[in-house]
Amino acid sequence: MEANLFAGKRIVVGVTGSIAAFKVAGWVSDLAKEEAQVMVVMTTAAERFVTPLTFAALSGNTVHTTMFADGAAESMAHIELAREADCLLIAPASADVMAKLAAGLADDLLTTTVLAANPAAVVVCPAMNSRMYAHPATQRNLAILRQLGYAIIEPATGMMACKEEGQGRLAEWEEVKERLARRFSPQDLRGVRVLVTAGPTREAIDPARYISNRSSGKMGYAIARGAWRRGAEVVLISGPTALPPPLGVKLVKVTSAMEMHDSVLSLADDCQVVIKAAAVADFRPEVRHRHKVKKEQAADEIRLAKNPDILFTLGQCKRPGQVLIGFAAESDDLLGEGRRKLAKKNLDLIAVNDIGGSDTGFEAESNQLHLVSASGVETLPHVSKLHCAGLLLDRVVQRLTEVSPAASSRDSSA
Ligand code: C5P
Repeated sequence: MEANLFAGKRIVVGVTGSIAAFKVAGWVSDLAKEEAQVMVVMTTAAERFVTPLTFAALSGNTVHTTMFADGAAESMAHIELAREADCLLIAPASADVMAKLAAGLADDLLTTTVLAANPAAVVVCPAMNSRMYAHPATQRNLAILRQLGYAIIEPATGMMACKEEGQGRLAEWEEVKERLARRFSPQDLRGVRVLVTAGPTREAIDPARYISNRSSGKMGYAIARGAWRRGAEVVLISGPTALPPPLGVKLVKVTSAMEMHDSVLSLADDCQVVIKAAAVADFRPEVRHRHKVKKEQAADEIRLAKNPDILFTLGQCKRPGQVLIGFAAESDDLLGEGRRKLAKKNLDLIAVNDIGGSDTGFEAESNQLHLVSASGVETLPHVSKLHCAGLLLDRVVQRLTEVSPAASSRDSSA
């Protein structure tokens, strides 16, 4: 899973008359780069903001603007494509088009195309002045669109083109793209509660200094994102990282190993799957000074106290059916260490990664995982961390099916 969710997907982008139309040019360009098959349909008003030529160049396909194209066969062809579309993304959706769609009108190519499409494939991204958005008529239309089974990606709040503040700005592409990725993912973790830990911990010496490690959190965040995309209810317990919170995930921020210990132990029991990708500090300074230690008064050594091994504790009280996965960052005897920790911590699986190289492990964008379990060792390909996460989650789904056969009845379609 997760190689490229967009490749080959048929996405119809319906552009309507809002100043935000220019932003959607960037969306179309990105979708085309992701190898989606993008067909743009524009309303007459949209053509006043951006030319069809722009969308044609970016999508690599003819842009459709009218119902009454020269050839009858051609007119039918795009209706046909709409019917077969994996997604019909209306962005920006003006108040006017939402009113038409709520009424079931079909007086131009875009509205006709929407009526021909599967309602479950329709995604609406409204963008308009905040007063227009808040107007009861628009809100009523939105409620009707939801009832019809269309997904709505709500506009953001902020400064708009008309220089007013409020809710009405077209949603950011990162959010829309992530929601599309979720639609294109199998929902094989639907109803499963997954706890993921990520990042380093910081063990304070005094208010200014701490001991930590090189973990960036990228692997754990990728797992949390991948699990959310597949329908899981995800809690991410994260040490300090520079990463944006993943969409849809409940993020619990902690700093020290002891804080992570307390959070994990209070939440793990409710979760069917626990994946501990965090690089938890094994030691903390025995004394945490209340005030910054002066250079002149600093001792020659810092005495360390051992932190509890959270994963070991989880392994001790693991309940039947729970899937427990650890990570091990190693630079030597990778598989030997993996096997030792698998047994010692009572895990279902441990993902060992090599921190000796520059393009795997800490801080890297990619990784190569060696999955050690009771059934042996499986070395995964060297791919992006999101792709690694997808491959690991495939094994989680397989394991869940083994430990609780009822889980196999989960819907695995998109
Ligand atoms: O023993 P080691 O630290 O190499 O094991 C790594 C695994 O154990 C990771 O999954 C990490 O999140 C977890 N761990 C933990 N508590 C610690 C140390 C490591 O949960 N104090």
